[in-house]
Amino acid sequence: MSSPDLVVFHARITPCAEEETRMGRIEELATIEDGALVVRSGKVVRVGESERVLSETTLGPDTRLLDAEGRALIPGFLDPHSHALHAGRRIPEMQLRQEGKGYLEILQAGGGIQETVRATTAADDAAVVRDTRRRIGQAVACGTTTVEVKTGYGLTPEREMRLLRLLAQVRRRAPITILRTFLGLHAWPLGTEDRPVHIAEMNALLSDVAAKDLAEMVDVFCEEGVFSPAETLSHLAAARAAGLAIRLHADELRPSGGAELAAEIGARSADHLLAATDEGLRAMAEAGVVGVNLPGTAFFLHEHPLQAERQRAVGLRAALATDQNPGSSPTFSMPMVLSLAMHMAGFRPAEALLAATRNAASALGLEGTHGQLAEGFAADFLLLDDSDYRVLFYAFGMNPVAQVFAAGRSIAHDGRLTEEMRQWMDS
Ligand code: NIG
Ligand code: FE
Repeated sequence: MSSPDLVVFHARITPCAEEETRMGRIEELATIEDGALVVRSGKVVRVGESERVLSETTLGPDTRLLDAEGRALIPGFLDPHSHALHAGRRIPEMQLRQEGKGYLEILQAGGGIQETVRATTAADDAAVVRDTRRRIGQAVACGTTTVEVKTGYGLTPEREMRLLRLLAQVRRRAPITILRTFLGLHAWPLGTEDRPVHIAEMNALLSDVAAKDLAEMVDVFCEEGVFSPAETLSHLAAARAAGLAIRLHADELRPSGGAELAAEIGARSADHLLAATDEGLRAMAEAGVVGVNLPGTAFFLHEHPLQAERQRAVGLRAALATDQNPGSSPTFSMPMVLSLAMHMAGFRPAEALLAATRNAASALGLEGTHGQLAEGFAADFLLLDDSDYRVLFYAFGMNPVAQVFAAGRSIAHDGRLTEEMRQWMDS
């Protein structure tokens, strides 16, 4: 067996490898007080007590040894829901909402998502790719090692296909894992009249999207006044027939039947859920659909509070994500999301950490390769600036992530990206 590339020792390791990850069934996470992690070819080959691992591992001339000096070591965050592919910001809209205008009201008047569609359409390709990579860089500095990115600021078949092409460019030679979701049904394309014709056209794209390997997943904004459960079902059925994984934006602002639909069709995840009914949440838990919570959106939209207790009551498999987008959640920071989940929604630190690692991996279909530190899994991990991982919840609004590793390589240190990450962002 060849020698390891990296051995991190004297770390307080929380591998997040527990069997049970449902809300209400998690108390504490197993932690190795003085632990070591051995990495070879981008994967974890061993996790255990420092003394034992060090005495039983044969180091090679190129093996890098890193003394963690007692700091907490956890899996890298997986951010399973972002809209990072876009141009522009929407700062005035934030204030309009504070003055009482509703999110959907602004959208229906041709603003909101439509404004970002106009900005993204007007921006040149290179600018969209560069801005998206910069956003991903900011996420990495805060500990994200896998991110999902959606299309959705094109809305017509041509413009959505352009965004898929740009997403392929964003992903090229990326030091972290980037998954792609087609969100053609994100809002109604202005100037298009016939609903069934438009949906049929968008459905028809999906076999091409799959055949050309342009995305792994398909999502729909299923919401009263946006796309109905019947329209959502039609699109997601076409996605499934094309071999793509399915998920949906469900019950973000009003109870719209999204959680129930997700359970009925066995979606991989249903996301948002702030206005979901208890029956809908229960049906999702029973069907094994992951609930992706977006506390940044609850915080920034001031519409409905996120309540962990409702998900505990039904034993939901809960994930956490940023929802990074210019309208409802401009943050890239998973530590900020964790703090909001604890302090505003009542998640326990153990529940929230599993939600940002293990369950986030399930929402992305990566449960066999990412999200925990166990033999054979990706060597995506973080060293924090404290021995207690709960510093993530304590130092809210700060960045307690001291070092970020993706596939065993250091990509950020003290909030600054390494040369490898910077080169990718600027290339
Ligand atoms: O998840 N709700 C739909 N989509 C995004 C917001 C997109 C935007 O406002 O630009 C969301 O909240
Ligand atoms: Fe979203």
